[in-house]
Amino acid sequence: MKFFVDTANLSHIKEAADLGILDGVTTNPSLMAKEGIKGNENILKHYADICALVDGDVSAEVLSTDFESMVAEGKALAAIHPNIVVKVPMIKDGIKAIKWFTDNGIRTNCTLVFSAGQAILAAKAGAAYVSPFIGRIDDSSWDGIQLIEQLAHIFMVQGFETEILAASIRNPLHIVRAAEAGAHICTCPLGSILGLLKHPLTDIGLAQFLEDAKKM
Ligand code: G3P
Repeated sequence: MKFFVDTANLSHIKEAADLGILDGVTTNPSLMAKEGIKGNENILKHYADICALVDGDVSAEVLSTDFESMVAEGKALAAIHPNIVVKVPMIKDGIKAIKWFTDNGIRTNCTLVFSAGQAILAAKAGAAYVSPFIGRIDDSSWDGIQLIEQLAHIFMVQGFETEILAASIRNPLHIVRAAEAGAHICTCPLGSILGLLKHPLTDIGLAQFLEDAKKM
């Protein structure tokens, strides 16, 4: 499973990249706004800065919702760097735009996916990635991981090449369960990735080894 970091924060991206396990980055308008990125020029520059930090795909989301504007925006985003993947919302014009991007050699990530039907449509349109929001599904008392399992089965049976990008990850257990369920990629906040390191027996064991090492 590939690891993406889900943030527009450059120091978080750098920290994840420095670990040596980072395969890409996803962003969304909320994450960009959180970093205070405003205005088209600054937005494009911020994506270029992210691309300079990570050797992997970087999802950059379109802000419009009609086909023509999404295509224009996506073309500008894709021109920033070959690693840019245009993130497109799961709406009717979004599917049309994904198909257009696919036909024109621009890779896409279909976002805001909450059902198998939506994911099938995105895969049919040729999306490189489909992003089921597992945390938000859990928030509404449905089972986000169950959707990943369902998609992994459908995509395998149907031979879809679209990769399942588990998004809206809220904790390290989500990462483990998404891996178990067959997600191709997990996109996570840095804190959830670092949470995978934690185990009290590791800390206790290391303290003991360091203590015993003094006797060597
Ligand atoms: O990649 C989508 C993700 O950023 C949404 O996460 O925590 O806002 O549901 P969250």
